Amino acid sequence: MKKAKFNVGLFGIGAIGSVIGSVLSQNKLISMAYFNRSKKESLKVKYGESKNNIPIKLESTLNLSKELDWLIIAIKEYDYVNARKTLKELIKPKTNIAIIRNGLNLYESLHGLANRSNVLECLIDCPTQKNDEDYYNQITKGKIVVQNNALSNSFAKLFGENEQLVIEQTVDFKTASWEKLIESSSLGAILALSGETCWIFEDQELINLYKKIVIESLQVGIKDGAKIDSNYKDQLILKLKKYPSTKGSSMLTDRLNNRRIELMAKNGIISELGKKYKLETPLNDLIYNLLKYTNIKKNVY
Ligand SMILES: NC(=O)c1ccc[n+]([C@@H]2O[C@H](COP(=O)([O-])OP(=O)(O)OC[C@H]3O[C@@H](n4cnc5c(N)ncnc54)[C@H](OP(=O)(O)O)[C@@H]3O)[C@@H](O)[C@H]2O)c1
Repeated sequence: MKKAKFNVGLFGIGAIGSVIGSVLSQNKLISMAYFNRSKKESLKVKYGESKNNIPIKLESTLNLSKELDWLIIAIKEYDYVNARKTLKELIKPKTNIAIIRNGLNLYESLHGLANRSNVLECLIDCPTQKNDEDYYNQITKGKIVVQNNALSNSFAKLFGENEQLVIEQTVDFKTASWEKLIESSSLGAILALSGETCWIFEDQELINLYKKIVIESLQVGIKDGAKIDSNYKDQLILKLKKYPSTKGSSMLTDRLNNRRIELMAKNGIISELGKKYKLETPLNDLIYNLLKYTNIKKNVY
């Protein structure tokens, strides 16, 4: 049997953590350590026809005997505050860290806990939801986008070639992050506020509203250094018109399921950066101020 070469910690075994764990646990060169807030005894992932049920044992930071070479964090943007103490115990000077979450400036979630040079910010495209059999259903092949550098080379090696997930290295991570943010927050806000799926874009007024939110967000992105040309808004409108009427969004799903919306990884961060750059963002402010009450109501704002 091959001896494990890398100690990898996976922090947050929800939808994305389960997908990542189901891939990495196949790599015999990796010794995995799993961390989650609630009890978890297995990774249950369905992808296409295959159903994986992999037993796991959660570790405690107190009796962890080995230092981690990599710590992969897959928790929601708003969960970092409460996770800080545990993360601090896990992060050692030589630990490389991959932050997988929506939003921008992901490193700031770990500010003061890790050196910037050890942190790899990751954007993930991997629609995954729990199904009725308590499996995480991974709908399509996942893609993790990272900046092209030595750290991401080493991260990509953990995954190797596999059917479930690809690591894509880009020369401009900031632009990739803004492109995803603009689309997901503009679409997500309209769907979450209306409570409806994409059928509502049969209404030209709503297409116009979508376009206005995109343009407003785009100007903040460009000021922040994203290299997106103004054709991008037209590409998004064309894409929007092709979406199936039943298409939803994570913001809509969270709203309908009475779960907290990751607002600061969506319109909230656009409003915040607008203020920083002295740009008016009335639509994102409005969206943020309305949706924050769905979070306040759950006493989780
Ligand atoms: N799911 C998707 O399709 C998808 C697609 C693209 C991007 N993303 C992004 O990926 C990120 C992760 O999302 P997700 O869908 O995987 O979320 P999720 O299913 O809610 O999983 C988050 C996991 O983190 C755990 N956790 C939270 N706080 C913790 C703490 N203090 N210590 C240890 N574990 C903790 C939770 O534990 P509990 O078991 O106690 O809840 C849960 O298992 C988010 O930013 C999300 O927006 C998700």
